[in-house]
Amino acid sequence: MDFQAYRIFELEDGTFQRKIVTRSTDELPQGEVLIKVAYAGLNFKDALSSTGHKGITREFPHTPGVDAAGYVASSSDLQFKEGDEVLVTGYDLGMNTDGGFGQYIRVPKGWVVPLPKNLSLKESMILGTAGFTSALALWKMEKAGQSPEMGEIVITGATGGVGSMAVSIFSTAGYQVVASSGKAEEEDYLKKLGAVRREDRSYTNDESGRLLLRTQWAGALDTVGGNTLATLMKACGKNGSIAVCGLVSSHELNTTVYPFLLNGINLIGVESAETSIDVRLKLWEKLNSIWKPGHLNDISKLISLDELDDQIELILKGKTRGRVVVKHD
Ligand SMILES: NC(=O)c1ccc[n+]([C@@H]2O[C@H](COP(=O)([O-])OP(=O)(O)OC[C@H]3O[C@@H](n4cnc5c(N)ncnc54)[C@H](OP(=O)(O)O)[C@@H]3O)[C@@H](O)[C@H]2O)c1
Repeated sequence: MDFQAYRIFELEDGTFQRKIVTRSTDELPQGEVLIKVAYAGLNFKDALSSTGHKGITREFPHTPGVDAAGYVASSSDLQFKEGDEVLVTGYDLGMNTDGGFGQYIRVPKGWVVPLPKNLSLKESMILGTAGFTSALALWKMEKAGQSPEMGEIVITGATGGVGSMAVSIFSTAGYQVVASSGKAEEEDYLKKLGAVRREDRSYTNDESGRLLLRTQWAGALDTVGGNTLATLMKACGKNGSIAVCGLVSSHELNTTVYPFLLNGINLIGVESAETSIDVRLKLWEKLNSIWKPGHLNDISKLISLDELDDQIELILKGKTRGRVVVKHD
């Protein structure tokens, strides 16, 4: 079966070229489940893969797209049958396994999640890895004792994919969310998602050199890293949790033990891609019910495959808002 895919090619001079090509399902990797992709999410990781980042994708040509949702076209495993609505996020999809920017994917059965009944395929991709990562962070924070009564939660990179989802999901779960964002013009958008207010990026970028700051928040989800993450730790209240989700500014963390020793904070690692299927099913059920944001369509922009190039450039510059979702024909 022929289909269209957005492929990245490595040229002899070491540069990378992106183009839409026709492929055959025979060329897809081994796996029990062949899926006709209806929607795919665009993530920061996909943008890195599309520029030839070898830390994400070792070998080219390659089809990025870590999130995909659609219909089972065929399955050699009895758990899935033709026509079933399913989604796949993470594992190796879009990294070194051909991903959702192609109209078909073939994956191992263990990666496939049945579409939760209160979500449409499109909604599941608006959520995608960004929503799933936010849910994983919230789940881990609550396991460490976080609760809405403790006070405000800061979300950094708030207009981004993970940020927008986190603002929505944490506020849906009952938290007072402060959105830290460099985009002053997006204040109304962030409030619509559920934030109580927007703060500039400087709010979470302390340059005083002090080892601890007065308490300013009860916990945080950070997508930025570097001094932002260090600041979040220094001003976090007693026993609060900071979920470490991203590194859009820096992979470094220069801190001291004081936030741990004097305030008992928890620094929580969030790794969504390899999350076990049991936890995945549990979190998708929460996203299907009590954590499902009421305004998913406001967080997303729907594009076609041939608009991907422009959106990849924008996400690399931190200029997208919310989630970008590719609709396949
Ligand atoms: N741990 C996991 O499992 C997991 C899963 C998914 C993503 N991630 C990571 O999470 C991060 C965000 O991913 P995403 O897909 O949400 O990306 P995104 O849509 O590009 O969002 C990133 C946001 O960060 C802010 N930002 C950009 N550059 C910045 C800078 N230099 N300093 C401070 N803020 C900056 C911008 O928001 P404002 O303009 O509103 O400030 C931007 O919209 C990435 O590092 C990604 O790799 C991790």
